Amino acid sequence: MNSIIIQPAASVKGEIVVPGDKSISHRSIMLGAIANGVTSVRGFLRGEDNMSTMHAFRAMGVDIKDDGETINITGCGLRGLKEPGDVLDCGNSGTTIRLITGLLSGQSFFSVVTGDKYLRKRPMKRVVEPLSLMGARIIGRHGGTLAPLAILGGPLTGINYQSPVSSAQIKSSIMLAGLYADGETHISEPSLSRDHSERMFTLFGASLVRNDSGVSVFGGVELTAQEVTVPGDISSAAFFIVAALITPNSELLIKNVGVNPSRTGIIDILLAMGGNIQLLDEREVSGEPVADILVRSSRLKGIAISGSVVPRAIDEFPAICVAAALAEGVTTVRDARELRVKETDRITAMAVNLKKMGVLVTETADGMDITGSDRLFGGTFDSCGDHRIAMSMSVAALVASSAITVTDIACVATSFPTFFPLLDKVAVK
Ligand code: S3P
Repeated sequence: MNSIIIQPAASVKGEIVVPGDKSISHRSIMLGAIANGVTSVRGFLRGEDNMSTMHAFRAMGVDIKDDGETINITGCGLRGLKEPGDVLDCGNSGTTIRLITGLLSGQSFFSVVTGDKYLRKRPMKRVVEPLSLMGARIIGRHGGTLAPLAILGGPLTGINYQSPVSSAQIKSSIMLAGLYADGETHISEPSLSRDHSERMFTLFGASLVRNDSGVSVFGGVELTAQEVTVPGDISSAAFFIVAALITPNSELLIKNVGVNPSRTGIIDILLAMGGNIQLLDEREVSGEPVADILVRSSRLKGIAISGSVVPRAIDEFPAICVAAALAEGVTTVRDARELRVKETDRITAMAVNLKKMGVLVTETADGMDITGSDRLFGGTFDSCGDHRIAMSMSVAALVASSAITVTDIACVATSFPTFFPLLDKVAVK
């Protein structure tokens, strides 16, 4: 059955570990595949999105073995990928399709990338345009703006690209093409998006320079295999952080979470709302900051969210909406137009669902205003095929006045296959 019933909880308690970071897992396969030597990855997220990346590289001749603990990728060097015999299906994964389109642009073969019905509606012009400026030959549906995309790889030239949006997918796609381009490829963005690519390129020995204006990659440099340990995904932890904050008498310890500053917008936002959140035992693993996160129930207040914190919390807005729905006063979200082109339009999806729960929500073009309420009604809520909407509504269910049914939940497997058992484990009835 593709739906679940979630009962209200008395508290959220315990100690958990969330699965590996999705963004870092994607990048470990991609860089491991084109490095020299065997890259071993521990803590890899075996969600559907990352499996799409793994299948794509296997289809290009890369030997990738999973012994259940460690993923071992035998890299084939910068120029060793083989022409895939079929279309590369990226499933629901925007990161897979956009990043490999950059990588494929620099290969000496032909390839086609596509995805599921949601991915085929998402904008691809944002990568096709800059990659074409580098000399990539890419055609696709709707004037090259929608997948499937056909890529005739070939020689590329470095560009100086000012991205109009803060997007790690755009940045990383161009950076991957930059590994194959002649000379320097420079990318700047309005404010910093997640910088896992910058960190992992450096770890693998790419020629990369970062400064205030952005990042430069110099082409033609071979990469060296690494041992990568992937931390827990803060985007997955976010649902449990909000669950513990909004449910009375809660105390939850989430161990081993990635706390890269380009991802911790969720912590900053929830702290500003009055959340009792502590980072413990801060450390660095494989070039990424990691900590344990201790959360206790808190009385939240509405705040104004806009500007550079938005890309630092971009995937967490559905969960933030749930916190805002229970905060005292109004929470305003602005500068978040990107939410309209995620797995679904997350502004409309959360507005529709929260209104149905009895919350006052007004949409704007680039955000929303949410007036907190002390009571959320139960009922049936649709995920719109979006994993993060499904998980956010499941968290809201913990404090609703009656049981909640969330429909179309299979999508949760794209990023967090163990979400429901874990929620069940910490939610005290
Ligand atoms: C990701 C970047 C973000 C994020 C996505 C993963 C990445 O997208 O929403 O879930 O791994 O690079 P944008 O960069 O398009 O904002």
